[in-house]
Amino acid sequence: MARKIHPDQLRSHRWFGLDDLRSFTHRSRAKQMGYSAQDFAGKPVIAIVNTWSDLSTCHSHFRTRAEEVKRGVWQAGGFPVELPAMPVTETYMKPSPMMYRNLLAMEVEELLRSQPIDGAVLMGGCDKTTPGLLMAAISMNLPAIYMPAGPMLRGNWNGQVLGSGSDVWKYWDEKRAGNIGDCEWSEIENGIARSPGHCMTMGTASTMTAMSEVLGMALPGASSIPAVDANHSRMATQCGRRIVEAVWEDLKPRDLLTEASFENAIAADMALGGSTNAIIHLVAMAGRAGIKLDLSKFDQISQRTPMIANIRPSGEYLMEDFYYAGGLRALLKQMGEFLSLDCLTMSGKTLGEEIETAQVFKPEVIRSLSNPVSAQGGTAILYGNLAPNGAVIKPTAAEPRLLQHSGRAVVFADYNDLAARIDDEALTVDEDSVLVLQNGGPVGAGMPEWGMLPIPKKLLRKGVRDMVRISDARMSGTAYGTCVLHVSPESFVGGPLALVRDGDIIELDVPRRALHLHLSDVELASRREKWRPPLPRYNRGFGALYAAHVTQADQGCEFDFLGAGAATPEPEIH
Ligand code: FES
Repeated sequence: MARKIHPDQLRSHRWFGLDDLRSFTHRSRAKQMGYSAQDFAGKPVIAIVNTWSDLSTCHSHFRTRAEEVKRGVWQAGGFPVELPAMPVTETYMKPSPMMYRNLLAMEVEELLRSQPIDGAVLMGGCDKTTPGLLMAAISMNLPAIYMPAGPMLRGNWNGQVLGSGSDVWKYWDEKRAGNIGDCEWSEIENGIARSPGHCMTMGTASTMTAMSEVLGMALPGASSIPAVDANHSRMATQCGRRIVEAVWEDLKPRDLLTEASFENAIAADMALGGSTNAIIHLVAMAGRAGIKLDLSKFDQISQRTPMIANIRPSGEYLMEDFYYAGGLRALLKQMGEFLSLDCLTMSGKTLGEEIETAQVFKPEVIRSLSNPVSAQGGTAILYGNLAPNGAVIKPTAAEPRLLQHSGRAVVFADYNDLAARIDDEALTVDEDSVLVLQNGGPVGAGMPEWGMLPIPKKLLRKGVRDMVRISDARMSGTAYGTCVLHVSPESFVGGPLALVRDGDIIELDVPRRALHLHLSDVELASRREKWRPPLPRYNRGFGALYAAHVTQADQGCEFDFLGAGAATPEPEIH
């Protein structure tokens, strides 16, 4: 390891190393905790940012992992300090953890800025924690390594493998159709989440932790290790050792993050059949590095990248199988011709060097380029008079017959309206209808994962399992179906989705990337004239701040004041 900086150049030197009143206070308060000068003097101070909580179920192993990271920091001659940060938990936070991603990013950026921190290990995994932590690290631009939580073990029920989310939706439909009873449902509840770790399908968590690794922010191989595997503990300790070296090497996020590294991430996302949510997060993360990602780039890369990971919801297997098949390194090696291999990683080596020795051990899980799960990537971007700034669909998780479809709209004004009427036997709906949900976008509702609208019960009983559904909301990465999502601009701020009425004809044409509302411009203008904005949902607090500053989905739902700009100055210490 080549040291590029002297101990006097450590950021923490301004807190601990000077001969002044404030430094006296800082040193004496470190000693208050039982440390001596040998523990911290002249050493990189490493923040271990821990998103553990009793309600952060995917991170329930993080108290142990934090100790294992500390072990590595001590081994390498650093001074570890654990900093708790807001756990943005997918399961429990309402109306949607999406609202709180930016709050986590702000919190962590300021935690790092306002305190004597030289480098950070960021502990996350549950969906929004990955982009939230990385957005903070990119803006702060301190040496940082992401420690992914790792997926939980496969679910199990009566000898069948269960996948997070995907099998919940599947069996919930069977329960609503009357095909399984309360006993089976309760057994599934006991078997679907049976270890620490994040969702083990290719949902948003698995996608975003993979993105962190492709971007070089996590150590090579880290994102595929199951949370409870002993290799996960060793990886945590390695994060601790490596971050100390990275501080001395002065290796920072923006040294790694380039247009090419984000294009690598998009290509890997497509090859994985990753979550549609990754689009929003990658746009926001790139923005923090001063890189503008247009939605059209996702579509271009999707069209040229085969999907080779055979993982649910687009495929058959789960993340545990992916790990045994060789994990992300093996997948990246397999698709090497689609990647810029000279991109740097936090290991200090290039992506190409890090995947050179990787092998595929289970070709049924990580397919070859000549035998892909799908010839194109897992995401398509749609445009049209219903989504002037774009919308997103995951064709690999849809029934192919619906990818070119016209039908009459059945419109729900918001989720409460949908919940009240969707199973009404009198609802005018058939299998060719297009279900439309309004007011589920960033300002309207915090953009929850409402986009996989339920199929009406009376159609479930007839055997219908997929329909075209359109909303400005998101969809869980574990979900499936012909769901058009992220319609931008959203209906709450007057996007064309707000103007759709029952019976309007909507045409979806995924091969042509088109989403069209069959109404004349005159009729649309007349409806717009009559449209009145809804009352704001929040009059105070974070909700009001969020609604005033959040951008639309195509811009990453970033706050308009948080993107790249002039660097924030280091705090004065007086
Ligand atoms: Fe945490 Fe799915 S609930 S990753």
